[in-house]
Amino acid sequence: MIQLAYTSDASDNLASGEIFKIIETSSSNNLRDDLTGMLIFANDRFFQIVEGEPAAIDSLVVRLETDPRHHSIQVLHRQEIGERSFPRWRMERVRIANGSVPEALANVSSGVRALVRQFLDGSAASEKAA
Ligand SMILES: Cc1cc2nc3c(=O)[nH]c(=O)nc-3n(C[C@H](O)[C@H](O)[C@H](O)COP(=O)(O)O)c2cc1C
Repeated sequence: MIQLAYTSDASDNLASGEIFKIIETSSSNNLRDDLTGMLIFANDRFFQIVEGEPAAIDSLVVRLETDPRHHSIQVLHRQEIGERSFPRWRMERVRIANGSVPEALANVSSGVRALVRQFLDGSAASEKAA
């Protein structure tokens, strides 16, 4: 089993309802594909962690790469895992309040927390620069 973490930039014309649609599609597809994970949308960027068998991850990546709702995918890590960080989430939207790592992620590994932290800090920086 592997875990993939990436960031991407939301497309300029992303309608607000699209996030809900992404979660809805992901929930049913990921059940079918035995994938689990979480999605953060903050400051017009996505941060996603998805975990499962390599073949299922690879076919998701192919779909993600051609999805016009985002672009500039940057893989942060792709690594073997012994157990899932998100065994109960088919694809959970994790909401960010005041730029801090949310309560919903209180029990994830320090590695995952560091990635979230890094994403949130990066988002804050690009927001300031804009
Ligand atoms: C940021 C982002 C995250 C996504 N995450 C998933 C996911 O976890 N699982 C999934 O099946 N599709 C996900 N999608 C949607 C896929 O890109 C693609 O549209 C979808 O898998 C196609 O499914 P369908 O053939 O059932 O319509 C995501 C899209 C975006 C923009």
